[in-house]
Amino acid sequence: MTDLTNLLQSVPPAIASAGSLVELEAIEAETIGRGSGIADARRGLGGITDAQERRETGRAINDVAQELTRLIADRRAVLALAEEDERLQTDRADVTLPGRRPPLGSTHVITQTMDEIVDIFVGLGYTVARGPEAETDFYNFTALNFHETHPSRLESDTLYLDYGEQEEEILLRTHTSPMQARYMEQHDPPVFIVVPGKVFRADAVDATHSPVFHQIEGLAVDDSITFADLKGTLAEFTRQFFGKDTEVKFIPHYFPFTEPSAEMHAYTKGRWIELLGCGMVNPAVFEHVGYDPDKVTGFAFGMGAERMAMVRHGITDLRALIDPDQRILEQYR
Ligand code: PHE
Repeated sequence: MTDLTNLLQSVPPAIASAGSLVELEAIEAETIGRGSGIADARRGLGGITDAQERRETGRAINDVAQELTRLIADRRAVLALAEEDERLQTDRADVTLPGRRPPLGSTHVITQTMDEIVDIFVGLGYTVARGPEAETDFYNFTALNFHETHPSRLESDTLYLDYGEQEEEILLRTHTSPMQARYMEQHDPPVFIVVPGKVFRADAVDATHSPVFHQIEGLAVDDSITFADLKGTLAEFTRQFFGKDTEVKFIPHYFPFTEPSAEMHAYTKGRWIELLGCGMVNPAVFEHVGYDPDKVTGFAFGMGAERMAMVRHGITDLRALIDPDQRILEQYR
């Protein structure tokens, strides 16, 4: 009995000063848990022969146990609250901080350039057509009036695919012009199309060459298209793309599929620079696609997307556009 009274003296201050739930649990185990004095006392009850005494002792033990259990429960509630408060403090989320943004991608500068060029022509009433990258010799050369012995047909210039019979040789198109023939075969005039796409040539990579690059082809065919329409259209395009004061000039050139043919140069950033090839559609091409050369005329042009991007952004080495170095590419978002 004195042991029990002692417990009521010594344990409550310990409970009151328990600083954490863990500490409190240790006190609980020690005082009312299995190996505790209270458990011992309960086990000793069986040895008390006098029923009256046994009952009184039992009640006394229960009173002490209940009192301690209550004190522990109260303290546990206080400590649990304090610990939760502390967690809320330390784990507090500052909802005013900016969120973490995942890195944002963007289209490649060549894609941007092609989109922009195509948009300008769409604004002038053109529609967009696309053709195959693996092309037949016929559409890439023959239908475009290339002579059988034209040097572009050599394997030193053109990448051939080992596919099919000799007479329907398949190659990687060397320009987007084959789509001129494909489109006219399928559609009656008038035709106003632009054809963006990849083209391929047997070139090694250097500052101005790549075996894969991009072109935007244009074709306008109607019953009275003149060279003046060609000049007006391409001058307008150049003003929209490079700025409204940009001057252009046309220098005679040769392409098998246009006659007359020209190179268009533009004066931008203090110098004249060659931008594209163009000309009036050669009547021989009209014949190949089943148009009557006495009834229609037209002009065509083709420009390199990489070149346009380089002139626009002042890039001097084409490899900057091919290299997947994000520090470079990020500048052209
Ligand atoms: N296909 C020519 C080239 O790749 C460009 C061009 C297109 C010239 C249309 C005239 C007319 O060089």
